[in-house]
Amino acid sequence: MSDFVLTTALRNAVFALIRDCGALVRSAHDIERARGAITDKAGAANYVTVYDVKVQEKLIAGLSVLFPGAQFFAEEKENAPGLLENGLCFIIDPIDGTTNFIKAYRPSVTSIGLLKDGKPFIGVVYNPYEKVLYAAERGKGAFRNGTRIHSSGEPLARSLFSMGTSPYYEELTEGSFKLAEYYLRRAIDMRRSGSAAWDLCQLASGVTGLYFELRLGLWDFAAGAVIAEEAGCVITDIDGKPLTYDGPSSVLAVSEGVAREAYLPEK
Ligand code: IPD
Ligand code: CA
Ligand code: CA
Repeated sequence: MSDFVLTTALRNAVFALIRDCGALVRSAHDIERARGAITDKAGAANYVTVYDVKVQEKLIAGLSVLFPGAQFFAEEKENAPGLLENGLCFIIDPIDGTTNFIKAYRPSVTSIGLLKDGKPFIGVVYNPYEKVLYAAERGKGAFRNGTRIHSSGEPLARSLFSMGTSPYYEELTEGSFKLAEYYLRRAIDMRRSGSAAWDLCQLASGVTGLYFELRLGLWDFAAGAVIAEEAGCVITDIDGKPLTYDGPSSVLAVSEGVAREAYLPEK
């Protein structure tokens, strides 16, 4: 078992690093037209840009110095099996909302989760355009630019909800939109930001009451899940089972208000 404790100095160094990465993201202009800046990945309309790679390299280099011996599970690299279970493992999504980034549709964020012995421990999400930093440590609450946040106490009928479309998995489109209709009939209205990490932070800060997506990578939700839980949200997979933090998963997350209702979709 790792007995690692996060000091204030280390926490501030992580915040400074993720803010520095934000400057790199903001420096990008007209990525769609920059030759060679975008590469296709597996799945439908799944891209990586040179900025995703640069931000990831900067984070891994900086965090390796701050946390000697930590492992890295990151979206734009090969991840060897067995990284997640023991000690400290950072879960990195350098740009969550890459399609937004390419199209200059906001937001896109950087997401850093930290697992300790396979369990979620810390989450940091930074929106470089609004200069908003969400952070949480297990058992110590969730914060937005240093101010404590809480999820909403409103019922679903008086809440917005957001969803992700699992865009790289066309076989999930029909199920995603059936579920969207199910919740749309029970909530005020639906939103789709294009960043799962951001959606979880909006839920954590009381803007929305529910968020779901039928398939996410671990890097999409590892940080946002800690932030949401520390803000009072309940987060599970789509069947209501606890998240396992060992790979891709569906995600269904609700505010403390919605958690008081029978919110799981009827089968
Ligand atoms: C994507 C975003 C999007 C969600 C997708 C994710 P990426 O991450 O979070 O909102 O719907 O499922 O893969 O590819 O932009 O890092
Ligand atoms: Ca992502
Ligand atoms: Ca990404």
